[in-house]
Amino acid sequence: MLVRSLTLKIASWRFTEWLVRKTFLLRPLVRRFIAGESLESAIEIAQRLTSEGYWVTLDYLGENVRSREEAEAAAITFQAMLRRLSASCASGPTPVDRACYLGAEGESPVERGNISIKLTQCGLDLGDDVALEHYRSVTRLAAELKTFVRVDMEHSAYTERTLQLVEKVFAEFPCTGTVLQSYLHRTGEDLDRCVRQGIRLRLVKGAYLEPASVAITDKAEVDRAFEEQSKKLLLEGKYPAIATHDAKVIESLLKFIAEKGIDKRVFEFQMLYGIRRDLQAKLLSEGYNVRVYVPFGESWYPYFTRRLAERPANLLFIVKALFKG
Ligand code: FDA
Repeated sequence: MLVRSLTLKIASWRFTEWLVRKTFLLRPLVRRFIAGESLESAIEIAQRLTSEGYWVTLDYLGENVRSREEAEAAAITFQAMLRRLSASCASGPTPVDRACYLGAEGESPVERGNISIKLTQCGLDLGDDVALEHYRSVTRLAAELKTFVRVDMEHSAYTERTLQLVEKVFAEFPCTGTVLQSYLHRTGEDLDRCVRQGIRLRLVKGAYLEPASVAITDKAEVDRAFEEQSKKLLLEGKYPAIATHDAKVIESLLKFIAEKGIDKRVFEFQMLYGIRRDLQAKLLSEGYNVRVYVPFGESWYPYFTRRLAERPANLLFIVKALFKG
């Protein structure tokens, strides 16, 4: 936790960003986590993944836009992502032994390709109304294309506003859902709140720097909370997404799934592009739904630093590269 906090702090300095962007030796590490800077490069990767049987969610990197023009530009990109995805990844092989989950009668099958967006990209810092306008228009298009919009969860300062906006849009277009972070003290209640409404959730441990007043700071405790909340979601949630690379937690959840006789089609695992590809392949080959989160765009730096902070080994690589460069 200390290494993570320190990394996120140092990464937030402008000088560090400048250094990381200019150091040629770091390019392979950046490419490992980021699908490229253009939508086309992300679509290429999405097509490859869906042809192998994975499902994907595309993430256009960028957060905290400061003007209405930037928010509008992000919304236009989200719409382009939905259109390109539905044109290129709508079909593909369904992995052995795995049929598409059809949901309740009359519902669309689970989408192979969907998008993940951030409300601060839609202009949340400029006001709820600005973010709502863009989020709603993007979700309306997703409904037409029979796909899905996931709202990523950002820093805790945005949690309540994010949930309220998701609830509003969900009431109009049920093809949207969000993310809950197990490290937040409030997540148990938020989970019940979303499950009651039938909102699709992705559960994650949480990636931001948060004070002890709002978040659990002990890693083992976060892991425990994640496992307990995953079990609850698997039993009660609507097509939940269990998003982790934690092999120990996944192993324990697989035992739970087998014990309870939970159908493999009623939930999915999600992992980030470039992380634990071995585990992604193993789960896919065992017939589980696996969705890969594929980030792209020019504003890759904050996302990249969160990935570095998660694993000290990544950090060591970067320090070595900076000294060589
Ligand atoms: P943990 O950090 O305990 O890692 C377990 C193991 O996974 C490690 O031992 C290592 O082997 C591997 N691993 C994890 N991270 C790695 C890395 N960066 N590089 C190499 N190996 C790594 N967070 C958030 O706050 N809001 C959000 O909306 C999302 N969305 C999201 C979507 C998806 C699909 C995923 C998988 C994750 C997120 N997250 C997120 C990030 C999440 O909160 C968390 O920070 C990361 O998933 C890392 O936590 P793990 O659960 O993987 O466990």
